[in-house]
Amino acid sequence: TTQTIARSYIIFVYLSLSLQVKKYLKPFLLSQEKLQEISARLKKNMIQGLGKHTHHKAPVKMLPTFVRATPDGTEKGDFLALDLGGTNFRVLYVRVMEEEQKVLKMDSQICAIPQDIMRGTGEQLFDHIAACLADFLDSQNLKGQTLPLGFTFSFPCEQIEIDKSILIHWTKGFSCSEVEGKDVVKLLRDAIHRRADYDIGSVAMVNDTVGTMMSCGYKDQSCEIGMIIGTGTNACYMEEMKNVKRVEGEDGRMCINTEWGGFGDDGSLEDIQTQFDVVVDKTSINPGIHIFEKMISGMYLGEIVRLLLVKLTEDKLLFKGKTSEALLTPGRFETRFISEIEEQDRGLKNCQNILTELGLKWDSVDVRLVRLVCDTVSIRSAHLCAAALATIVNRIRENRGLDYLKTTVGVDGTVYRKHPNFSDKLQAMVHRLAPNCSITFLVSEDGSGKGAAMVTAVAQRQALSHLLEDSDSDRKEDEEEDK
Ligand code: BGC
Repeated sequence: TTQTIARSYIIFVYLSLSLQVKKYLKPFLLSQEKLQEISARLKKNMIQGLGKHTHHKAPVKMLPTFVRATPDGTEKGDFLALDLGGTNFRVLYVRVMEEEQKVLKMDSQICAIPQDIMRGTGEQLFDHIAACLADFLDSQNLKGQTLPLGFTFSFPCEQIEIDKSILIHWTKGFSCSEVEGKDVVKLLRDAIHRRADYDIGSVAMVNDTVGTMMSCGYKDQSCEIGMIIGTGTNACYMEEMKNVKRVEGEDGRMCINTEWGGFGDDGSLEDIQTQFDVVVDKTSINPGIHIFEKMISGMYLGEIVRLLLVKLTEDKLLFKGKTSEALLTPGRFETRFISEIEEQDRGLKNCQNILTELGLKWDSVDVRLVRLVCDTVSIRSAHLCAAALATIVNRIRENRGLDYLKTTVGVDGTVYRKHPNFSDKLQAMVHRLAPNCSITFLVSEDGSGKGAAMVTAVAQRQALSHLLEDSDSDRKEDEEEDK
């Protein structure tokens, strides 16, 4: 019938065009061997980051977090949490309950951070944060209390103590002046004191990866890795203190914020960077910084796809060579489109709507080719994450001299959560790259909010037990002297 002929024709055209399109996509395909090689490179970088004399030059920063323990279930109390650095800025009021081993979010509020504040001065940013917190405390009738606060600040920070944390550099869309090199806790406290209408108690600084690990650790005590694949990407894990050469002490473990997004900042990923990755980096607000992140995370995936589509249109492989103003506009192809286009049942229909929305004249072959481009870019992202995660689980296994490791990873982030098959692709590849590890993936329940409260609660528990130990040893010393 004519219908079958038409169908066969479309398939024929698709196959012949896709052969040509695949030439452009080839640099995005990373073999298992290549991923193994990348994992080996990352391993070297991680060791460099941990070293006392090598860390200052290391692209993968391996930052000590001063979180020495995962929750043991005895934590409790009321906390405030701030969450800056993901999709939204949020303020939360959280209750940690001992008896039911539960973390309850009592209430929360989202505050927008307008672009001009994201790129304005540090003082403006922290005044804005302090004002949001004031509004929230008012609405909850909490202004009279001085609650401890967990501050999820999802940027690379050199942590001096749990409540002293120096921003190394901004990532993602932020670039406020006068913050890099400064203690973020002090900037927050100063802003609150400038207002003088409320105060906060002790502060614990938390990276979102750490919050994610801790929020899962409350449920599953073998959770010792936290991973984010959202606007940005990163992971943390529990490292043996004896390997953390920059912090005194040999015993026990400490959570290390790897900042794996910075992998490649010394040029070590040039062999896998495509021409499109190079453009994404060059046109970003922080060129040269977070090269690995720019190949993986939500802030950049849409833009990589857009650049590919522009090139394929220029070379007449898409839309009969006719582009549109929207397609030529940086940022117009959002990362969420990729997830929508890759949906199993509705994907092609979604793709049609998106292309129409972008002012493009498509036919059914274009729609399939666009889906192929999205697939390729998101699979590369999942596979790169898999290589990095495999590096961490293999390291934990070797650290502990185990033949086989069973462990749990707490995960969060819009790309991991929202993309229809990202997590499957990632898990399958980690399994191949770390065959001696069995990994449970737990999607965190609000790591940046509840997790931050958890970190604050654990820090309080530990401070309290130190106090008790100290007063216990003081008492013993007194008794000795009395004798
Ligand atoms: C930041 C990390 C953060 C990650 C995920 C990166 O850009 O440097 O600190 O954990 O994004 O939010």
